[in-house]
Amino acid sequence: MIGHRFSAAADTYERHARPQLALAQSVVAMLPELYPEQILELGPGTGLLTRLLTERFPDVLIDAVDVSEKMIEHSKARFKRFPQINWIVGDAQTWWGGDRYPLIVSSSALHWATDLQAACESIFQSLEPGGTFSLGMMLEGTLKELHELRRDVAPEKTPQISLPTYEKTKACLQNAGFKIERRLHAEEEIIYDDAKAFLKAIHEQGVTGGKVSAGNAPLNRAELSQLVADYQENYASDNGVFATYETATFLLTKM
Ligand SMILES: C[S@@+](CC[C@H](N)C(=O)[O-])C[C@H]1O[C@@H](n2cnc3c(N)ncnc32)[C@H](O)[C@@H]1O
Repeated sequence: MIGHRFSAAADTYERHARPQLALAQSVVAMLPELYPEQILELGPGTGLLTRLLTERFPDVLIDAVDVSEKMIEHSKARFKRFPQINWIVGDAQTWWGGDRYPLIVSSSALHWATDLQAACESIFQSLEPGGTFSLGMMLEGTLKELHELRRDVAPEKTPQISLPTYEKTKACLQNAGFKIERRLHAEEEIIYDDAKAFLKAIHEQGVTGGKVSAGNAPLNRAELSQLVADYQENYASDNGVFATYETATFLLTKM
């Protein structure tokens, strides 16, 4: 399901991925001085974080594992001048490459995990003792304005699931055995030209129809028009409308 949704958005994702780019930058900025021989990236998507990794660690081998076949095809073609990247279709929640890595990174991907605790435990197993895991997550408060309006406009279509909270994410990581070395918890309002542009942007990020912004049942045309009108009225800012993104970046080690 998630693989298909992101596949459809692969071509348009980066045009509207400002919050995701900021999170990927924070994942790299949090890293201490390191000289890993190999890196595992989980959920690379179109390669926002991958590109930053190639700048920070030129020539280091990167195994980039994404559940979406189309994303992998798209990024493989796009990064063909980087033979050090191994593009792999796989589920980050359970993926085992047969070897442990000194550095694992992930940004804007693991909040989709169906079982975050199990995913953290699996990643812990893939990390070398003494290794580092830098993780960027979108959290529960992301697009909270949209969730609230959606509940008003179509209460019977309220999503059953939501993104993890900061506390839950922290607990899953610690329970899996990670030591938290650094963490950054942030909430930011992003401005869009208007409500229509905002909904188009999140659709092109591949998040509509899924956990972040919508639910199991899509809105019909009348509900969607109502949502656009209400968003414009309720969440206007000086230059358009605003939307909240709640994120966390964790720098973790395995003792
Ligand atoms: C919002 S994109 C973010 C991609 C990129 N890391 C970035 O920072 O822009 C999320 C990516 O995670 C992938 N993804 C979601 N769940 C996954 C899973 N369980 N295993 C591997 N990839 C997953 C999606 O297919 C998508 O390509």
